[in-house]
Amino acid sequence: MAGRFPSEWIDEVRDRSEIVSVVSEYVPLTRKGSKHWGLCPFHGEKTPSFSVDQEKQMYYCFGCHAGGNVITFVMSMERMEFPEAVRHLAERAHMPIPETRGEDAAPKKNRDRLYAALVEAAKFYNRTLYTPEGAKALDYLHGRGIRDNVIRRFGLGCTSNGWQSLHKYLTDMGFTNQELTDANLILERGGRVFDTFRDRVMFPIFDPRGRVIAFGGRVMGDGQPKYLNSSDTPVFNKRRNVYGLNFLKGGKREHLRLVEGYMDVVSLYQHGVDGCVATLGTALTNEQIRLMKRYAPQVLITYDGDGAGQRAISRGLDLFEMENVPVRVTVVPDKMDPDEYVRARGGQALNDLGSVDPTTYRLDVLAASHDLATEEERAKYAVEAAQVLRKLENPVEVERFLKRLAIETGFSEETLMEQVGRRRPAKRAQTPVHTPAYAGKNREDDGYIRAQKDLIAMLAIGEKVPRDLMRLEDFTDPACAFMAKILLEEGGDIRRVQSAMEQMEDEGLRGDISRILLIGEQCDPDKKPRLIANCVDQLLRRRVEREIAQMEERSAQPGLTVEEQLEIASMLGQLYGRLERLKQGGSE
Ligand code: UTP
Ligand code: MN
Repeated sequence: MAGRFPSEWIDEVRDRSEIVSVVSEYVPLTRKGSKHWGLCPFHGEKTPSFSVDQEKQMYYCFGCHAGGNVITFVMSMERMEFPEAVRHLAERAHMPIPETRGEDAAPKKNRDRLYAALVEAAKFYNRTLYTPEGAKALDYLHGRGIRDNVIRRFGLGCTSNGWQSLHKYLTDMGFTNQELTDANLILERGGRVFDTFRDRVMFPIFDPRGRVIAFGGRVMGDGQPKYLNSSDTPVFNKRRNVYGLNFLKGGKREHLRLVEGYMDVVSLYQHGVDGCVATLGTALTNEQIRLMKRYAPQVLITYDGDGAGQRAISRGLDLFEMENVPVRVTVVPDKMDPDEYVRARGGQALNDLGSVDPTTYRLDVLAASHDLATEEERAKYAVEAAQVLRKLENPVEVERFLKRLAIETGFSEETLMEQVGRRRPAKRAQTPVHTPAYAGKNREDDGYIRAQKDLIAMLAIGEKVPRDLMRLEDFTDPACAFMAKILLEEGGDIRRVQSAMEQMEDEGLRGDISRILLIGEQCDPDKKPRLIANCVDQLLRRRVEREIAQMEERSAQPGLTVEEQLEIASMLGQLYGRLERLKQGGSE
């Protein structure tokens, strides 16, 4: 768990980090009207659509829709987590940093010592590779086809089978036993110390900024465990880091390729396959998915082709979908792992494998586990496949796969559709607010969402809005709902909205909110009261329509008593009356 800074202190960091001056350190800005403009650092462009609003202390890109405040800007630019970004800005503003609990508990000075020890260890391991003691390891790497320039780039190294080589080396450099234990470079047992890693090929693990934070060490040959990894330390959390991010060349890329092993990352790099990363000796985590999302719009899972790899893919797909991060699968044939595959067939062959969407992958796996030559198995396959399709959100997608299923199983699309049956809209696990089924995508709804956004924008800039008429459920757009909760229910202001955005994983949502906050000032002051009144009418009308829909659904239920039917009819009558009045233009 990240330690927590006091919120007043964070407020002060924000206040002392003026956004125009912070952004200017990365992007040249020109003042035009009430805003500063520059080329967006988050997507490639030739004419400036990146705006910084000094008054609101926010940025928004009209091209790629990125938005937020000074802290989220640093998070995105420096690829930092929230606490790290705050610390970074505090240092910039020469503010003392309070101590926190948990992972960040070690004061910065201590952490700097750990980073220093870790990078010295990495250099030591790398040098050892080219001494007689490292001959076996170097042979091992060469034997696996790794070239010296790649060894250098990834900083690979090795340890001798001595018990205290690293300990002696780093102690001579002035590091204390405490520091070395904290960095997990040495172990203390019964008053004796010895090196954590012995007789292994060493893979330094870097954070995205290129600092060494841990190691993975592989045995040469068949010993156990195959890989020994640093345990978590004040500078390393294996659930929150991803191997290989620091090696990515800059610039936009279409996808990251997620592989299972360190060796796969190294080997694929050597074979010219771009954008490969791996997890760190644990199963994939949500945190890692969110981290990857910052580097590319899509991830291609490229795990080993064996059974274990297949199970890991299924689990991975579920996690990616929970996080709403686009994902596809590259299936590596013949039970090979990606490293074996590129060594046998080359990097281009791996790229040529292409990728499939998650549903296709799931159906492929199911199909392969049934003998489709028999009718009984075809039926079983159809039933299981229908369960996969039931989770899809769009009817169009379902239909696309129904065609395939019909061909494979011989059942008609109608029958299969019925089997998929009673589809409820799939629930997104992480949606921050409830989104009624209402929020569809036709022209009517566009107007409704527009009204929500305008109204929230007016609220945010402190215009008079009839708050007591509004209800949270009126806001079906996720960005509006998020803001309504703060502005209406919690009595917060625009600053509260901004600080809440810092904790938001969903960057699309952050962009939406930034844009809504910028809408308000663009409205002609004379027109504001009229705009507000129209929006309120629209929201009230939608609310009544929703109630009518619910009531009609109730009335359609079987087994109602006569009394119940009459009661429903009377309520429906009232609702239709209200709707009429609202349509005539009068608020109630
Ligand atoms: P693999 O067994 O697929 O290793 O484990 P690999 O990287 O392909 O290595 P080679 O090709 O056999 O040399 C995948 C990853 O799982 C973690 C490591 O992060 C490894 O890279 N792992 C595996 C461990 O942490 N400990 C182990 O004992 C095994
Ligand atoms: Mn391997």
